[in-house]
Amino acid sequence: MDNFIIHGPKSLRGEVKISGSKNAALPILAATMLTREKCEIKNVPDLRDVKSTFELLNYMGKKCFFGFNAFSVEEASALKHHAPYDLVRRMRASVLVAGPLLARFKKVRFSLPGGCSIGVRPIDIHLEAFQKLGAEVSYERGDVIVSAGKLKSARLKFRFPSVGATENLMMCAALIKGTTVLENCAREPEIADLAGALRCMGAEVEGESTATIKICGRDVLKGLKYSVMPDRIETGTFMLIAAAAGGKLTLLNTDIRLVKSVARGLEKAGVKISPPGGRGGGITVETDGLRPRPVSVETKPYPGFPTDLQAPWMAFMARAKGESLIHEEIFENRFMHAAELMRMGADITVTDRKAVIRGVERLLGAPVIASDIRAGAALIVAAAAAKGVTVIGRIYHIDRGYEKIEDKLRLAGMKIERVKA
Ligand code: EPZ
Repeated sequence: MDNFIIHGPKSLRGEVKISGSKNAALPILAATMLTREKCEIKNVPDLRDVKSTFELLNYMGKKCFFGFNAFSVEEASALKHHAPYDLVRRMRASVLVAGPLLARFKKVRFSLPGGCSIGVRPIDIHLEAFQKLGAEVSYERGDVIVSAGKLKSARLKFRFPSVGATENLMMCAALIKGTTVLENCAREPEIADLAGALRCMGAEVEGESTATIKICGRDVLKGLKYSVMPDRIETGTFMLIAAAAGGKLTLLNTDIRLVKSVARGLEKAGVKISPPGGRGGGITVETDGLRPRPVSVETKPYPGFPTDLQAPWMAFMARAKGESLIHEEIFENRFMHAAELMRMGADITVTDRKAVIRGVERLLGAPVIASDIRAGAALIVAAAAAKGVTVIGRIYHIDRGYEKIEDKLRLAGMKIERVKA
């Protein structure tokens, strides 16, 4: 297993190119299961989760090619309907093959994804919605089997705006004749990107980015040529690394409108964010690297503060000139990074879904461990501001969500290297 070794503090300068969005690419790659035709998707980030999806699609009967951020998919043989445990357990997003396979073959079997460090992460919202479309759900040896004699369009309301359930049901409805109305949908930008891809495949989709999405399905869908949106979580993460380290960093190939809540928080904390259309149309983050003003946040479904930036935000607040509060409203166990930040000198108290951060003058480098993608990113934010050497272990978590992160940071002036543990 590799480690990152980071020497801090060191201000950052220059430019970083933001990659395509992991959380938009994964559902769009799953959507290729809806058609027999060739699909070509660009701006796909080279990440462990994309490689896992590559393996899953090939296992299911597709023939995939991936290189230079271009992913192409052709149908090589009759598709399997069973996504096995060893592939699903590696990546929860594998559950996104359910909607397409159910729609195409009226039957899908996949391993219950199991939880991860941030929570139990059930899929009841997905399954209840499939049942509303006429499917039956059964369980066998850790697998869930969803099948239907006939699927019918329907109007259904999610009990919670689940991102994955919204995506799964959009894909399923795209192959069901008639108009399916999904209410209380997630409104994340990645949902809009999936809607754009489904439209390219011939489905009629309207209302994405609002709480109600209408899909008029087709008997058959075409292949697609599509380019994935920028990664807004990577964008927010780099904004926080730059704010913590100090200096002036410009993020290219991204859009400030994707990170409004984070930009607002950073400006409240005293960080200068360039107006939209900064050089190269990107976002410039500028700060003297001194201690930020304390700013409290609570995570919410989009357009609220994103849960995926809660950990990096906590790391940034660890040196604030005062006390801030974080309320994690999306996942039940998403403060694993707090203990690691405290090893670097942070002063944090966690009670259930609330964390109180009392800012300290100085963080100190230390050996720490990543527990999930975003907790790992938080340790990089802290290491960027900490005095001394930080060694981050289990960085395979970070590799799941950030493409070539050490190369991008080194180019911006950070003293970071990847070493074999
Ligand atoms: C997506 O996960 C993202 N993953 C997550 O990003 C992100 O944190 C999350 O949305 C929230 O924004 C991808 O897009 C691949 P949810 P997803 O269904 O779809 C509960 C990252 O770091 N829930 O919106 O799984 C669930 O337990 C990852 O990139 C149910 O109870 O999120 C959670 O508490 C981490 N039943 C809440 O809803 C269900 O059937 C939000 O989950 C589904 C979800």
